Amino acid sequence: MQHNRGQWQSTAGFILAAAGSAIGLGNIWRFPYVAGTNGGAAFVFLYLVCVLLICLPYLFCELAMGRHTKKNPVGAVLALRGKSPWTLVGALGVLTGVCILSYYGVIAGWAFGYIFKSFLAPALSLGEFSANSMVSVPLFALFILFTILVVVRGVEKGIEKAARVLMPMLLVLMLLLIVRGLTLPGAWKGVEFLIKPDFSVVTTATVLAALGQAFFSLSLGMGAMITYGSYLPKSANLQTSGTYVALFDTGIALLAGFMIFPALFALGGNPSSGPPLIFEVLPTVFAQMTLGSVVAAVFFVLLSIAALTSTVSLLEVPVSYFVDDRKWSRKKSVWVVGAAAFALGLPAALEPSSESLRSISLMGATGYLSVMDLIWGNISLAVGAMLLCIFTGWVWGYLKAGAELQEGGGMSEGTVKIWGVFIRFICPLFIFLVLLSLFPFGSRLLAAIGLG
Ligand code: TRP
Repeated sequence: MQHNRGQWQSTAGFILAAAGSAIGLGNIWRFPYVAGTNGGAAFVFLYLVCVLLICLPYLFCELAMGRHTKKNPVGAVLALRGKSPWTLVGALGVLTGVCILSYYGVIAGWAFGYIFKSFLAPALSLGEFSANSMVSVPLFALFILFTILVVVRGVEKGIEKAARVLMPMLLVLMLLLIVRGLTLPGAWKGVEFLIKPDFSVVTTATVLAALGQAFFSLSLGMGAMITYGSYLPKSANLQTSGTYVALFDTGIALLAGFMIFPALFALGGNPSSGPPLIFEVLPTVFAQMTLGSVVAAVFFVLLSIAALTSTVSLLEVPVSYFVDDRKWSRKKSVWVVGAAAFALGLPAALEPSSESLRSISLMGATGYLSVMDLIWGNISLAVGAMLLCIFTGWVWGYLKAGAELQEGGGMSEGTVKIWGVFIRFICPLFIFLVLLSLFPFGSRLLAAIGLG
């Protein structure tokens, strides 16, 4: 009896929904500012390497686990291994979904508020705007509510359709903004910033940032693609659909870079200004256009929609766990998890107006929101991905997982062999080394063997 479990209408529907999950604030807001603070082109290069060599092979692990078991991350691990400590890896994924949703929803709320801000108070900075908790908390609540309303109806209807119309609109608007930015005098410096790498600025922190960004942007490391893959029929080709999702996501991130940096350099902004980057730069570009505030409003509508298809997937993972494994109704699961995410995100929404929340710091991240992002959006995703690689490669077995990937005219036998090498050795080892570099002891060790 699986009355609560859905199935995508078509493979194209899956690609759209999974791309909708992947494409979000991570591409348009996070990618440019992380690239900006990490030196530009060298970071972009490392990011592309991570996507191709680490994330893409790993994406196939999640899709294979999901479709094979037709379960959420916890249920999938249980189905493949029975009760064992591995179940905790699935549980970490479910928890990570709630935690990322909590602060992601705050930023999505700002993006939503900017639709109106472009008309009402165009001169207000992001700092001033977000420090008004009478505005930012209701916006955050509203965004969580939108997410709840979509997920409560099931993901297949509504969101699939909306994404089909709105994602292409986002693309067209981005292309227009790119053209506008590139035609500003001095824009070429911004292009160079993105394509002329200066590898002397690369440190292990840059590699960690690139890997973390790649996992975050592709919605990997917490089982979102296990859950989305669980709604796929056997006839779907996992290799092609997964590749499309990665391609679309990476393409949109790069476009976001070309949308921001040429304009930023032309206008004399600072590329390493951190999280406020798109909220400050783009409005300046909009202001120089005819009907600028309308264009700005449209842009933030689309950004909100891109964020919504992502928050939907973040909520869907814990919800699918409560529905599959705890036998809660979808309605109850959605409201309980949504409320928990809201409570957990309140400090992030209040941070701009609270000195004490702003001064929290951990391993180089400062402020509640950045610390949450470091723990859940970076470390937890990397740890989760490393463990799920090991699980797929060694516990479930890469040949069994590979058989799942071969269904539906998918992966060839030769490719499965190569893929097996990646997920058993290369991916987990690489992620492990990058994680090690986070800790003082580990980075000394790496330096001692000449890798630091
Ligand atoms: N990938 C989304 C973005 O780039 C965010 C996101 C949605 C996510 N679901 C996820 C990140 C699952 C990690 C895991 O905005």
